[in-house]
Amino acid sequence: MSTVTPAAGPAAWATDPYARALSRGRGPLFLRRADGWLLPLDVERWCADADAADLSALRRCEGTVIDIGCGPGRLVAALAARGHRALGIDVSDAAIGHTQRLGGSALRRSVFEPLPGEGRWGTALLIDGNIGIGGDPRALLRRVAALLAPGGLLITEAAPHEVDEQVQVRLDDGRGDADAAPHFPWARVGVSALHDYARADGWQTAGQWEADSRPFLALRRPRTVRSTSQRADTPNSTAVISSQFPRNLSGDIPVAGP
Ligand SMILES: C[S@@+](CC[C@H](N)C(=O)[O-])C[C@H]1O[C@@H](n2cnc3c(N)ncnc32)[C@H](O)[C@@H]1O
Repeated sequence: MSTVTPAAGPAAWATDPYARALSRGRGPLFLRRADGWLLPLDVERWCADADAADLSALRRCEGTVIDIGCGPGRLVAALAARGHRALGIDVSDAAIGHTQRLGGSALRRSVFEPLPGEGRWGTALLIDGNIGIGGDPRALLRRVAALLAPGGLLITEAAPHEVDEQVQVRLDDGRGDADAAPHFPWARVGVSALHDYARADGWQTAGQWEADSRPFLALRRPRTVRSTSQRADTPNSTAVISSQFPRNLSGDIPVAGP
């Protein structure tokens, strides 16, 4: 049986099934729950250009943008093309390489590790189910609050139906060897639950909309930010940095308009 640890999350995304899917530009790729239930991952869309629903979120970005769990980087590339200073972070080498090949700036690091520009980002993105990262939405929201500048904006995407679920999953690409993959914690959060988590920590709702059946929320950072314990995601803690943000990785990313 696989060992279940929080640190297995980043390690799991850094493995072959995800890298293979990104290099093919398509699935099948699923998150598999212990009871066999499968959540299909939309690798094709992630590897395509930003679509209209993505752009509905990107239009609302303010200042410098950090895309948390940027995957192959379509959002970072689209933001850069629109003149934003944007950085993607992800725990997967394949995702970071893909983002850089699209011309985006990217850093291989977990959101729970120290990051450049802590407390100064204008906007943070948690798109494509990334509110599930770490399997604890409340802890993730607190971590994001610590990354944002006072008054900063979180743009996040909720699950398309009402759900509030914290589960152990593993990546499965249908090759029959999913049993060998590590379990890791993941969460799925619908709009109501997301509002509840946000309100409980003092986030203000700045917008809510739906595009292409994808529900989005824009949340303003709470005035007081609680500290989060940072987990040591040791298997992936080595940073791989795009050459486009060299000076800023000392932590000096000012919040400026696009
Ligand atoms: C559901 S996918 C979303 C993909 C992405 N938004 C896109 O457009 O392709 C989740 C992404 O989060 C990344 N991830 C998982 N845990 C992470 C962590 N602790 N810190 C940063 N990224 C993480 C995964 O490697 C993966 O690329």
